[in-house]
Amino acid sequence: MKPIYVAGPSITDHERKVVAEAMQTGWYEKPYYYCEEFQKEFARYHDRKFAVMTPNCTTSIHLLLTCLGVGEGDEVIAPDCTWIASVAPITYLKAVPIFCDISEDDWCLDPVSLESCITSKTKAIIAVDLFGNMPKMDEIRAIAEKHGIPLIEDAAEALGSTYKGTKAGKFGRASVFSFHRTKTLTTGEGGMLLTDDEELYNRCMVWRDHGRRPGGALYYNYEVTYKYMPFNLQAALGYAQFQRVDELVAIKRWHLRMYKELLAGVEDITFNAEPAHVVNGAWITGLVFGKSHRLEKGRAIEELAKLGVPARPFFYPLSSLPAFPGLLDKYSQRNKNAYDISARGINLPGAMNLEEEQLVFICEGIKKILGVA
Ligand SMILES: Cc1ncc(COP(=O)(O)O)c(C=O)c1O
Repeated sequence: MKPIYVAGPSITDHERKVVAEAMQTGWYEKPYYYCEEFQKEFARYHDRKFAVMTPNCTTSIHLLLTCLGVGEGDEVIAPDCTWIASVAPITYLKAVPIFCDISEDDWCLDPVSLESCITSKTKAIIAVDLFGNMPKMDEIRAIAEKHGIPLIEDAAEALGSTYKGTKAGKFGRASVFSFHRTKTLTTGEGGMLLTDDEELYNRCMVWRDHGRRPGGALYYNYEVTYKYMPFNLQAALGYAQFQRVDELVAIKRWHLRMYKELLAGVEDITFNAEPAHVVNGAWITGLVFGKSHRLEKGRAIEELAKLGVPARPFFYPLSSLPAFPGLLDKYSQRNKNAYDISARGINLPGAMNLEEEQLVFICEGIKKILGVA
């Protein structure tokens, strides 16, 4: 059997051809051709008016929070269990991340906890579509609107997910995607910001490029801002991958379906939520061991590694990490689901080149460590 990778892309002759073409033509007449085409297509697919590609998703979030006016002393609410990139830009701006609990069923921002986190300092809410799961968007949107606080959808992990027929990436004032090398669609490093708000879009375009206005006078800067421009070759890869979007998402959904089918007989385990109103893009298949198994994630990963099965931990609650010192006592009391679910959760391999016999092998390993093989 070939080695099992936890993550990795699907790159075909199609991508190789488009990138080679970009290498030939994407300089003199067309220095941003692929960036513009990719942005246009990506926005259209998500039913958004505007798209802004950036070097990665972290920079998209930084750009967006900046252009929404988040600054020193402001509070921004985000779920406790997510990748640190969702919240690091809050700290870059000297604002304060407020870690909200996650819901037991979808592992995303919990609306009840969200409401309790809102204060007069709240400047934005970031809902994260964890692993491709969709948060309770109706409730979250209603809370954001009631308090007049902009909602951001961090859809970095949710390409291909839908909620009540609407694609992930269409929620909130703006949304962001990641094309990191581990993502369903990759440009190696890459990010995209989507919005329907023209003013916000124009501001992001200026802040993306040293305070210049697109199409404006040369060497004429209106503000001191960031340099978060995308690169044509990176965009060419994204453009080519995006032409295969349905195929790429189908591979991830096949992983989730196979894991569920192959482990159907095992009791008290939970996978990515897929209620009737959600299609789950399943960037990662998450597996949470029920309490009856008495299996902590670190031990599960160790036992699986001994059997040749690589797995990763469910995101730690950010409030428990050394990166955010002094929060553990308070937040572990407050964010019960985040601490409880994270302790029992692992991420299963999700490389795009996984084959059926490998999925069977992985599931046999899981059954062995649970003593049900
Ligand atoms: C939820 C979430 N937000 C943001 C990011 C940041 O993406 P990037 O690595 O492209 O900066 C990632 C991915 O790594 C992510 O999973």
